[in-house]
Amino acid sequence: RDVTGVQTCALPISRRAERAAGPPGGGPYETMRGVNIPTADSAFIRACRRQPVASVPVWYMRQAGRALPEYRARRAGIAMLDACSTPDLITEITLQPVRRYGVDAAIFFSDIVLPLKSVGVDLDIVPGVGPVVAKPVQTLEDVAAIPDLTPDAVPYITEAVQQLVAELGATPLIGFAGAPFTVASYLVEGGPSKEHAKTKALMFGAPDVWNALMEKIAGIAAAYLEVQVAAGASAIQLFDSWAGALTPADYVAYVQPYSARVLTRAGALGVPRIHFGVGTSNLLTLMGEAGADVVGVDWRTPLADGIARVGDRGVQGNLDPTLVFAPTEVMLDRAGEIIEAGRNARGHIFNLGHGVIPTTNPDQLKRLTDFVHEYSLD
Ligand code: CP3
Repeated sequence: RDVTGVQTCALPISRRAERAAGPPGGGPYETMRGVNIPTADSAFIRACRRQPVASVPVWYMRQAGRALPEYRARRAGIAMLDACSTPDLITEITLQPVRRYGVDAAIFFSDIVLPLKSVGVDLDIVPGVGPVVAKPVQTLEDVAAIPDLTPDAVPYITEAVQQLVAELGATPLIGFAGAPFTVASYLVEGGPSKEHAKTKALMFGAPDVWNALMEKIAGIAAAYLEVQVAAGASAIQLFDSWAGALTPADYVAYVQPYSARVLTRAGALGVPRIHFGVGTSNLLTLMGEAGADVVGVDWRTPLADGIARVGDRGVQGNLDPTLVFAPTEVMLDRAGEIIEAGRNARGHIFNLGHGVIPTTNPDQLKRLTDFVHEYSLD
């Protein structure tokens, strides 16, 4: 069904999709609470659950939007946050990279600040800048003024996820939320920041305000993930993009308990949980212990080191996102090394080590996706 009213092609029926269509011999699916039955035997969900897969599943952080001309065409003249509250547009943009690249999972098109906007926080996403908050949070009163999130604040999320899972069939949809530290950084700084100095000043200097803020964001993030999973998302990813700014001791004292709260609530839904941050080499063990099934590893850490640090969990990653600008053979050589390293993991999901860079040539990502699938076939 074409939900957009625009001509779209059907999802490619790849080898992966055939495999995902059911166990050999047509036996019954393994049914799992919280997991959409058609996706339960997909390579992506199997790898998240550390079950054997025929070939390594692959998707890309920030695959929706950014590099695709068809994305830019659909977004023309539409503000980001308006796009994020229009179900037909969310559905179309989420499906675009699945069609184009043949990736093993879709990531829901939204943003980590959308739930804040939906409860009434005055913020915008400024093109080329990122999220900008009109009145940064400083006091307990500022925190108390942020409402909690209830599903009725985001009916368009429920509608978009429902449309998407109907379209995606056996391809899993990954729901996501921003982790409390990363979202707090935008709320406290008022916008993007390199040093997160105001955020850490609040953390070290006003623990009562910090704790109240982290508790508030954790509740909103968990409720937002619950909406996505209730509507049919098969897995979730918690993005703590800027957690790498913290020492392990500060992460444990000020951040981990709140991320754990989000991951525990998501875990109760029965879906696999991925936990990712940038520059988090020294935090990978702790991010796993916060309650992840799979830990995302950025490209600075050799995947083998990441595997050693996450213990019994799966790993996701971790090709340097700039390698798409290298000659194709160089990119594919590095991808091969990552797949080889991933053979020692309990489960490995191939990804970039951070988001797709906007100037990426989509043809390179298509070649990379095909390579990962073919190279990793036993
Ligand atoms: O992964 C996907 O493709 C799904 C959509 C998605 C977006 N943002 C869409 C978006 C996801 C998963 C995010 C998460 C997000 N948003 C994170 C965590 C992931 C990461 O990259 O570490 C962070 C830190 C944000 C905050 C944010 N929002 C930034 C830094 C930016 C980019 C600013 C810029 O223009 O360079 C945004 C805006 C944003 N989010 C865009 C998109 C497609 C661009 C908006 C536009 O085109 O106007």
